[in-house]
Amino acid sequence: MTHRIAVLAGDGIGTEVMPEGVRALEAAADRFGIDLELTAFDFASCDYYLEHGQMLPDDWPETLVAFDAIFYGAIGWPDKVPDHVSLWGSLLKFRREFDQYVNLRPCRLLPGIESPLAGRVPGDIDFYVVRENTEGEYSSVGGTMFEGTEREVVIQETVMTRTGVDRVLKYAFDLAQSRPRKKLTSATKSNGIAITMPWWDTRVAAMAEHYPEVEVDKFHIDILTANFVLHPDWFDVVVASNLFGDILSDLGPACTGTIGVAPSANINPEGRFPSLFEPVHGSAPDIAGRGIANPIGQIWSGAMMLEHLGHPEAGAAILAAIEAVLAEGDPVVLTPDLGGRGTTPGLGQAIAERIAAGDRDDDAPRR
Ligand code: NAD
Ligand code: IPM
Ligand code: MN
Repeated sequence: MTHRIAVLAGDGIGTEVMPEGVRALEAAADRFGIDLELTAFDFASCDYYLEHGQMLPDDWPETLVAFDAIFYGAIGWPDKVPDHVSLWGSLLKFRREFDQYVNLRPCRLLPGIESPLAGRVPGDIDFYVVRENTEGEYSSVGGTMFEGTEREVVIQETVMTRTGVDRVLKYAFDLAQSRPRKKLTSATKSNGIAITMPWWDTRVAAMAEHYPEVEVDKFHIDILTANFVLHPDWFDVVVASNLFGDILSDLGPACTGTIGVAPSANINPEGRFPSLFEPVHGSAPDIAGRGIANPIGQIWSGAMMLEHLGHPEAGAAILAAIEAVLAEGDPVVLTPDLGGRGTTPGLGQAIAERIAAGDRDDDAPRR
């Protein structure tokens, strides 16, 4: 069976880490006999916008819906196109129109990486952020009145639906139930955001009734961010609204050393539409063009994609290769965010070689 993958590299370091993501995918596909057909597109980038006046061609839904998954880099170059134009014209459209309502973002301290949190070792930080990905604070309901005058008013409404919240909670509870610790933490702010958030709490409580084995707790988002730093070992599955999840899923990976390693899966769990796999980080204009971006977030996203496509052994082998290369800790191979002096292709190649070799007992397929 052929898996058809649309490849959208985007802007800035998206175009630098994507070749490494593809290289890792191809190494895993070769090793495990997986038939991948990768098709690259130039749309969903700010250069495409400058040429065409829009981020995507009009027929993008028909084009992309034919793929089994989307492998995506990073979009945004604010000096060329305002961020809200480029992102609402691409990534945020994909998430909504393809109903990718779960944004699954693992936060794991990997071997060989030093956490900025003193004394933390692998195993201390190993949780998922499950972010609601299609509604909430990211709404287009609102507007501006009396624009440009002293009376200017700007409103943007938070939109939460019972269907939208319950389905992402169900995903998060199922995930918690499947993990050894069976623990779920809800990010709330029901003390201050006094309409939507108390209601969010009642939906969490209602869903919890169906999962008696899952231990549930909740924190207001402000102290939750503090607890990510002070007690990252408390967390197993953290479920959050769109904006809270966005914030937590940069903070979590920062606690694991660098956001350069963090992957994400924008999932349409029913499989009606293609899911999208991308690093958590953006296009990093500050380091773009220098060949020093960490490609691990992109490569790990590829591992999540293979797992989603029904090849967990290939996904596990990619992650094992990442871990093996990190554990070796060769400063010539590691990128600067990992304390090394290596390059994007150098680190990507080391990981791809490790995937191909498959000679370590940690990633050998179990028989
Ligand atoms: P960013 O994630 O691009 O960068 C934040 C910081 O992290 C920068 O200092 C950057 O150099 C560093 N960094 C990020 N990825 C790295 C990597 N792989 N290796 C090493 N260092 C890395 O966030 P930002 O600066 O807020 O945004 C830049 C642009 O990217 C904006 O246009 C923004 O809207 C966009 N953005 C896009 C996505 C996406 O496409 N999913 C996500 C976040 C931001
Ligand atoms: C992310 C990004 C996006 C988001 C931006 C670029 C719109 O930060 O994927 O986390 O806010 O969802
Ligand atoms: Mn973000």
